[in-house]
Amino acid sequence: MAGKMHFLITAGGTREYIDPVRFISNASSGRMGLALARAALKAGHEVTLIAAPIKQGPPRGVNTIRVETAEQMFKAVKKHFEKCDCLIMAAAVADYAPAKPAKTKIRRTAKGLTIELKPTADILRWAGKRKRKDQIVIGFALEDEKLRERAEKKLKEKRLDMIIANRPAAISAEKSTVQMKTRDSDWTEIKHVTKATIAKRIMRVVESL
Ligand code: CTP
Repeated sequence: MAGKMHFLITAGGTREYIDPVRFISNASSGRMGLALARAALKAGHEVTLIAAPIKQGPPRGVNTIRVETAEQMFKAVKKHFEKCDCLIMAAAVADYAPAKPAKTKIRRTAKGLTIELKPTADILRWAGKRKRKDQIVIGFALEDEKLRERAEKKLKEKRLDMIIANRPAAISAEKSTVQMKTRDSDWTEIKHVTKATIAKRIMRVVESL
């Protein structure tokens, strides 16, 4: 895709509330999403960032929408998807959320506590199903085993244009090793590089799609 593009990028780890003051989340720092936002801006594109809690401020020049939960992120993606040329789901979205969050703070008792979880909506799958022919949808896959095989399955099943696969060690890390694949290309490995370098490589691939 040539020329100026509108990127919709998600970043950070969502929070799924158990009660008003406690939540389930993950170790995501938001670094990958922010690096992608910076790389897209630098390449002259427009960026809308949907940010779950992140450890750094978003770059200037980015339209940022703050969210906390997977449900809020889904709503924001639905609202902005149509206008974008490319969605990159770099956020670590919770797969499960408490089924019945308590309205008031859960009090300590002498007994154990079981929290029932329900699955959240798969935003990436929704976008893959929904996308127009002129839209690009990119996902990440965090795999501890059979990385390429599992990531490729996600690429196909979720009708993505590209997938970036990494290991759990990449989460929140400064540098990481990733594997990338588009629908029509073979796997490429990028070893032990900063997220800024990974973001630049992803931009180059997107612009060539
Ligand atoms: N993702 C999403 N909506 C969710 C959960 C994840 O859109 N509710 C997105 C993430 O942003 C990421 C991709 O899905 O781009 C991959 O997430 P991952 O956890 O690796 O895959 P899952 O499809 O959840 O599969 P599994 O947990 O079985 O590996």
